[in-house]
Amino acid sequence: MNNQERREFIKSGLQGLGITICAGSIMSILSSCEMNEDLIQPQETTFPLIIAIDDPNNIDLTRIGGAMYYNHPSLNNGEDFIIIRVDNDSFLALSSFCTHQGCQVNIPSMDKLTIFCPCHFAEFSPLTGEVIQQPNQGTATNLPVFKTEYDIVNNRLTVYLPGND
Ligand code: FES
Repeated sequence: MNNQERREFIKSGLQGLGITICAGSIMSILSSCEMNEDLIQPQETTFPLIIAIDDPNNIDLTRIGGAMYYNHPSLNNGEDFIIIRVDNDSFLALSSFCTHQGCQVNIPSMDKLTIFCPCHFAEFSPLTGEVIQQPNQGTATNLPVFKTEYDIVNNRLTVYLPGND
């Protein structure tokens, strides 16, 4: 339906309901319809954080399956996120907060290979962040994942994170 058809539709609908409104009001209704049609959803801006994998603080990320919490106070609202080494040349970076009720999830370990939430026992894939076990009450969704790029030559991982609100 184009704008002209929409105007006629609204006018005839109002007339059919016996509603009389001033021209200014109908124009504001019509223009609000047109404005909503043009709304563009904001894109979430992300910022690159470069992590040296050969830094001794990041030793857990030197082996496949290794995982650690990471934090940068001016990114991701200062909240912890998780980095997991998935393969020789790929990493997964994702939120550390459970999508069920917001508890901090546990990183994979030798005892528990999945990302595990201790509050209601949801489990998430350490390869993708997808839910693989729903909580014992309610529903969780996949953990938000942040884009990563790995420079294997320089052993630098770039994680693209949202800023602070
Ligand atoms: S908060 Fe994680 S399972 Fe409930």
